[in-house]
Amino acid sequence: MTRHLLDIDDLSASELAEILDLAADEHPPRLLAGRGVALIFERPSARTRSSSEMAVVHLGGHPVYIQGDEVGIDTRESAEDVARTLSQYHCAIGARARHHRVLERMAAVSGAPVLNLLSERAHPLQAIADLLTLRDHWGGALPGHTVAWVGDGNNVARSLALACALAGVEMAVASPPGYRLDATTLDAVGALGGRLQLAASPAEAVAGADAVCTDVWVSMGQEAEAAQRLDAFQGYQVDARLMAGAAPGACFLHCLPAHRGQEVAAEVIDGPASLVWAQAANRLRAMRGVLLWLFG
Ligand code: CP
Ligand code: NVA
Repeated sequence: MTRHLLDIDDLSASELAEILDLAADEHPPRLLAGRGVALIFERPSARTRSSSEMAVVHLGGHPVYIQGDEVGIDTRESAEDVARTLSQYHCAIGARARHHRVLERMAAVSGAPVLNLLSERAHPLQAIADLLTLRDHWGGALPGHTVAWVGDGNNVARSLALACALAGVEMAVASPPGYRLDATTLDAVGALGGRLQLAASPAEAVAGADAVCTDVWVSMGQEAEAAQRLDAFQGYQVDARLMAGAAPGACFLHCLPAHRGQEVAAEVIDGPASLVWAQAANRLRAMRGVLLWLFG
């Protein structure tokens, strides 16, 4: 059976743990020698494209970057036909898609694994990198710690919630009304045995947390809602005052790109608690871990 990674709950807890361990291998075998990996991007990327390309290179394979317009998913030809075609040449297809449903349709017909490189619904490679960053920071152990999410209950928050559930990390989430994690995600977290608290305020979410995480208030594709969103998220900035309510030594995570002065104050993201550069670096390890798990 072809395995796909459209969101974190495509993995079992033990598979996620295996990927985290494989990701730590700084000298991975060249498992992909002579093989290609297609990387389709329907939206911009700094981290995901480069980390995915370099992960393939480190494993001896050949990444092929494809701009969304070039293949024209559902304009030039159907998502299914793109997937059927690319899987003839490549051992895996990574895609950053405008619509999560497109990834599901590709996975339904692809003979090669389909990896979600961010959709409006999920960002599993980011969640794996986040767990790697936290595990390193916490000295190798994830269970027993608490993560606070302050801000939009978006794609990154959903995947992180599922990852925390699988890894035994508690999560507390504060989002304004209308921007909370959806019921499907909360049900999925519950089904995985996760412990997730919906907090009434940012201060309640971060109280005693070992890590504080946030993301942009306006995600790619939501530009038309920008004014309304910036208004709704007032009071949700992660600043030094909010961080002071977290556990002593708490760290700060942000998947990037960040907007200093909106979701995070410069004093936090550029301050001593911030792990954002380690987190960005771990995107490369996360992709290597997933490829090693798929093809090892
Ligand atoms: N964090 C992240 O996915 O960054 P990019 O959008 O730059 O790839
Ligand atoms: N939530 C953001 C994450 C970017 C990496 C977005 O979807 O634009």
